[in-house]
Amino acid sequence: MRDHFELQAYDAMGRLGELTVPRADVTVETPALLPVINPHHETIDPGRLAEFGAEILITNSYVIYGSDEVREPALEDGLHDLLDFDGAIMTDSGSFQLAEYGEIDVNTTEILEFQREIGSDIATPVDIPTPPDADREQVGREMETTQARLETAADFDAGEMLLNAPVQGATYPDLREQAARDAYATGLDVFPIGAVVPLLNDYRYGEMVDAVAGAKRGLGEDAPVHLFGAGHPMMFALAVAAGCDLFDSAAYALYARDGRYLTVRGTEHLDELEHFPCECPVCSARTPAELRDRPTHERTKLLAEHNLHVSFGEMRRIKQAIRQGNLLELVETRARAHPTMLDGYRALLDHAEQLERTDPASKDAFFYLSGESAARPEVRRHHDRLARLSPPADLLLATDPDAHAGADADVWAVEPPFGPVPRGLDQTYPLTAELPDRLDDRAYRAAARGVNRLAETSDAAITLVDDGWPASALDLLAEGVDIDTTVEE
Ligand code: GUN
Ligand code: ZN
Repeated sequence: MRDHFELQAYDAMGRLGELTVPRADVTVETPALLPVINPHHETIDPGRLAEFGAEILITNSYVIYGSDEVREPALEDGLHDLLDFDGAIMTDSGSFQLAEYGEIDVNTTEILEFQREIGSDIATPVDIPTPPDADREQVGREMETTQARLETAADFDAGEMLLNAPVQGATYPDLREQAARDAYATGLDVFPIGAVVPLLNDYRYGEMVDAVAGAKRGLGEDAPVHLFGAGHPMMFALAVAAGCDLFDSAAYALYARDGRYLTVRGTEHLDELEHFPCECPVCSARTPAELRDRPTHERTKLLAEHNLHVSFGEMRRIKQAIRQGNLLELVETRARAHPTMLDGYRALLDHAEQLERTDPASKDAFFYLSGESAARPEVRRHHDRLARLSPPADLLLATDPDAHAGADADVWAVEPPFGPVPRGLDQTYPLTAELPDRLDDRAYRAAARGVNRLAETSDAAITLVDDGWPASALDLLAEGVDIDTTVEE
């Protein structure tokens, strides 16, 4: 158990990993995107998904179970033959139908048996997707039912098939944490965070991040985490940085049917495009006007192809960013696409302590890109480091220490957003940061908090040279810190 997920590198809470799926005899590189295939309504031939980069797909076993048309071929030939896909196949259980229509006519054991019979590689019990904002009583009650079904699944003879253990808890981070702890204790294999679709549909990215962070606190580091129903490439980087490893996209097909065109900055409508802002084969070969002129089914298929190219392209960008240690720069860039994404990023940074635990000690240069950069985990880590130092008894802090070389006190640099830079540390990460010349007040305020950490954890007499600090940062300085406005530049 639990040797099927191997982690290779971290950036913030994001990680590169390998999910071994024994029944399919494949290894899936994570973060991974699972295209949703509806066997009744294949927008893209699943046999072609590998061309886009898909190593794993997801389909709904309950839809297959309920269909006279595909049920028998699925049982007879197995899903891999039915879909002509030799990667890994995850199946969902019908919980979505349960949430939509109130009941389904199978229980967990029956639908797990069916998933095993049709050759699923990762199967799902019938969890209860409690919607956001449900009252705590309802959430708690439904979590108990879900947990009982996870325990049924844990007793189920799955053979080599892996099992999902969905984590519910609606919009209560503490309940998400508890649900995750209980799910993890079952010893099941993959941990989808459930019922986030209504949050995502309403652009509630901050609450999505809080739900993920809550669930992550209850799970072991070795738990592969799937964000159920999250398929818009705009938010992949944010969700990966919060610790999600798997995503499934129905969006690529659903949006295509409405003429909607996905980008990493949001959604466009084909009718409103004069130029394609994309380099994929679909967009390079034709203009929007030409695509509008095609028959509906062809237009939908081509739009779906573009949507998939964009989604997999973003996944590759994210993986490369984790390798290079600039995932947070990517998230910060994506956060500029929509104010609600900015909320998501700010919510992520509110979990700086949790982010900091897995964030590597050293990466490529820290790029200060906006006021949000001042709240990154590296800044917090530097402040923690300051608290462990013994500074000189009489310390002068200046943004340009060379200008004060003749001072009686020892002189250290102070660099927004980090704060005091002890001598000898200025060439170490993150103090090698690239900063704009025109810094905002948040950088100075973060630096003031760094000065305070040093003042509060040592007996040093600290003087800060005010060579143009904003009042909002000077106001934050602790009582004991002197401000020198007279020292000449
Ligand atoms: N698909 C999207 N959300 C959910 C969920 O909460 N549970 C299951 N089983 N499938 C989903
Ligand atoms: Zn394109």
